[in-house]
Amino acid sequence: MDKLTVLALFGGKSSEHDVSTVSAASVISNIPCDKYNVIMLGITKDGRWLRYTGETSRLPEDKWLEDEADLHPAYLVPDSSVGGIVEIIDGKVVTTPVDVVFPILHGKNGEDGTVQGLLQLAGLAFVGCDMISSADCMDKAVTNALADRAGIAQAKWLSFTEHEYRSNPQKILDNAAETLGYPIFVKPANAGSSVGISKATDLQTLADGIEVAFVNDNKVVLEETVTGREVECAVLGNEEPIVATPGEIAPCNDFYDFDAKYVAGTSGLFIPARISDEQLEAVKKQAIKAYKALGCEGLSRVDFFVNDEQILLNEINTIPGFTSISMYPKLFEHSGIAYPDLLDKLLTLAIQRKEQRQ
Ligand SMILES: Nc1ncnc2c1ncn2[C@@H]1O[C@H](COP(=O)(O)OP(=O)(O)O)[C@@H](O)[C@H]1O
Ligand SMILES: [Mg+2]
Repeated sequence: MDKLTVLALFGGKSSEHDVSTVSAASVISNIPCDKYNVIMLGITKDGRWLRYTGETSRLPEDKWLEDEADLHPAYLVPDSSVGGIVEIIDGKVVTTPVDVVFPILHGKNGEDGTVQGLLQLAGLAFVGCDMISSADCMDKAVTNALADRAGIAQAKWLSFTEHEYRSNPQKILDNAAETLGYPIFVKPANAGSSVGISKATDLQTLADGIEVAFVNDNKVVLEETVTGREVECAVLGNEEPIVATPGEIAPCNDFYDFDAKYVAGTSGLFIPARISDEQLEAVKKQAIKAYKALGCEGLSRVDFFVNDEQILLNEINTIPGFTSISMYPKLFEHSGIAYPDLLDKLLTLAIQRKEQRQ
């Protein structure tokens, strides 16, 4: 059987660019090489698209960008007759066919439906959620609204645009204090990796936190602070998704902020999550319900807060961290699907979806 060509997209114009290069190095080196050839297309922090033909190990910390001889401009184009990428090599335009694309891009300009929309126009099979689902899961206000509509429990919340806030800040601040109560979580609707998120304890820190959040997005979400364990579910599949045994993150800081995620490195990870068997089953059910309500396909990591009384949805990550030690692959490994097999399943799901919908 001929090998299939996988296009691995990595980097991205996103605050999570550096996380993506680490995830991508792991993914690419674990895609089964008896079945797939992998080609790499990187997006720089300033938004340039470059095919990279060097060593996968050079992706983290953007070392790949130092290897000039291994770089040339390459693009995904919306023209669906191309069936691959368009490259500029020594001034000539060359087309390289691609069977399936694996976007390993976190956050804005990659996990948010932008790249997925381009892939849909290009008519290429690709791993993960489609444009609409990616965009819905990226935007915390939209996720919360759709979860409410599906009857999925979550923290009390409200959202507003920068324009609405500037028109009458006092009204919004008073309403937040009254309906949510302090402490209040302040989040940009679209960001990721806890960037721009803060926990406000009074009027002043709330107003300050909102300003910080507006630096990242022109829409802000406020949430009541809920207590509970942070329980994460790895979901895999298209129409009939499966879910691995849930895991738990125990942040080393006050909450799971950027530092706790990537810098301090001492946050605890427990598989299974330290909750009862009944709760584990209930969380799995909620994860599938949320996955379907948001139209997810391929994969997503569905995150919850769990305490003795409640299971509350927090958010859905459509392209979760994907190094071999990240929660998503670890959860499936614990449930009996090894990392290379998981990648094979994701690529197969992507191809199946394209074949079914053509
Ligand atoms: N409503 C909330 N109550 C308590 N803690 C929260 C709440 N929302 C977020 N957090 C904390 O902040 C972290 C980051 O928030 P999250 O919504 O997951 O943003 P991101 O998309 O950046 O991961 C969570 O992992 C959790 O530790
Ligand atoms: Mg999160």
